[in-house]
Amino acid sequence: MAYGEQRSVNSFYHLKDIDIKKTYCRCLACFVAKKLNPNCYNKALQEKAIVYNLGRAYCAPESGADKERPAIAIKSKFGVVLDRIVNSNVKALKSYCAIGGFTALNKTLLMKPRNVIAEIESSGLRGRGGAGFFTGKKWLSVFSQASEKKFVIVNADEGDPGAYIDRLILEEDPFCIIEAATIAAYTVGAQMGIIYVRKEYPEAQEVLQRAIEEAYAAGFLGKNILSKSFDFDLNLLSGHGSYLCGEETSLLNAIEARRPEVRARPPYPSEHGLFDAPTLVNNVETLANIPWIINNGGQAFYALGFAKSRGTKCVSLNSLFNRPGLYEVDFGISVRQILEDIGGGLRTSEPKGVIIGGPLAGVIPPNLFDTTFGFEELTAIGASVGHGGVIAFDQSSSIAELLHHVFLFGAFESCGKCTPCRLGTREIEEHFRKIINKEAIAKDSYKKIGCIIDALKYTSLCAHGSGLADFALSIMRYYAEEYKKCFE
Ligand SMILES: Cc1cc2nc3c(=O)[nH]c(=O)nc-3n(C[C@H](O)[C@H](O)[C@H](O)COP(=O)(O)O)c2cc1C
Ligand code: SF4
Repeated sequence: MAYGEQRSVNSFYHLKDIDIKKTYCRCLACFVAKKLNPNCYNKALQEKAIVYNLGRAYCAPESGADKERPAIAIKSKFGVVLDRIVNSNVKALKSYCAIGGFTALNKTLLMKPRNVIAEIESSGLRGRGGAGFFTGKKWLSVFSQASEKKFVIVNADEGDPGAYIDRLILEEDPFCIIEAATIAAYTVGAQMGIIYVRKEYPEAQEVLQRAIEEAYAAGFLGKNILSKSFDFDLNLLSGHGSYLCGEETSLLNAIEARRPEVRARPPYPSEHGLFDAPTLVNNVETLANIPWIINNGGQAFYALGFAKSRGTKCVSLNSLFNRPGLYEVDFGISVRQILEDIGGGLRTSEPKGVIIGGPLAGVIPPNLFDTTFGFEELTAIGASVGHGGVIAFDQSSSIAELLHHVFLFGAFESCGKCTPCRLGTREIEEHFRKIINKEAIAKDSYKKIGCIIDALKYTSLCAHGSGLADFALSIMRYYAEEYKKCFE
């Protein structure tokens, strides 16, 4: 049965028959900026189709009809990911090849897979999709599986509210992702790949579809790629509106036409993935680094960044900034530098806090803005690099409203497999809704909500539940006074 035709799981999806270009977004970036365009945000709340990230947080509150292109700039010492987008126009195959496109694939096909993996390992590249797992280690794991059938999946579901990194890479540098996926396939021994793009990105899907067809016609995909004895097929698949399908094991279930619930791990997708075959799942931005690493060497990439955060990172800034946009930055700078030097501060009032990497991570309060931007450094304060979507909120956002919004999103998107996430997120959302509406609350609610948050943190099967708990825990820690008032 073709993907999307599976009647038994259709209830899981809500955007299957929706024209995205006519929708309005209600994601966290739209929520914190609702006063910039109340009309647009109210339309989102009235929409039957609930949409949480249209990839346009730079002009939030956003609609699917917004055509504005954001500022895109390289603020790192060296542009790895955005260089082609900023300094060339590589949307056409000819122009991509004219600036060295597909030379990395050519070079890879002359290398032994083990040597390609050694190069990726020496680069120190970590996944940009959220978990920050070492990419070389993952490639080695898939490569090491004895199986005739393997898959490569490009995770282009970019569901984190506020993020638009992958969208712009896909729309403006599509051949780079095709080249990187093909390099990955050759290296791990895969014959088939899938780019899974969220339904909310119709323009990216159109661009990619054309690019894939062009790449086939030019011999970069299909049989005997670049006249070598290597075959690789790459297909595009559209989601139907589920944040959880970005989680790699839900994504596998979605592609297999099953209900897209999270799978218990182990086994990991690298061992038993799509249709039980070893599967490499990588994020779009992760892959966008690969051709550069092959061309310039792992050591050159490792030379950028610091400690365990190597290379550069793209961040996307929301509409409350004076200079919202997509920026490539160095690891090792401070969060404040991102917010003030690059983003120009907020245009409405002083920031009350910032959320990096979507709502499945802790909030950073102003007194911690000097924290270093790096994987371990942000984790140490209960926050995260995540995927790099930066949502600052100003003094007009109340803690009760923020918690209500995030848990409403959390409950709506929960896959329902674990009880604390399925029922607990709804219970928390309802508590803060009562606070906002000044309704009576139960006397023991402070203790009860605390217990649910602990259960989410320690018993969730995936980072949806534990990440929502991290968000709540950071609020309890850094906005304690305002949080406690939500129980009076
Ligand atoms: C609830 C949830 C949603 C996720 N959504 C995405 C997503 O939209 N895109 C993505 O690349 N990774 C997402 N991830 C992370 C993936 O599970 C996975 O770690 C990632 O695709 C691996 O690629 P990487 O190693 O290149 O980062 C999500 C994880 C969770 C728990
Ligand atoms: S934590 Fe939530 S989203 Fe994740 S597996 Fe459990 S129920 Fe599903």
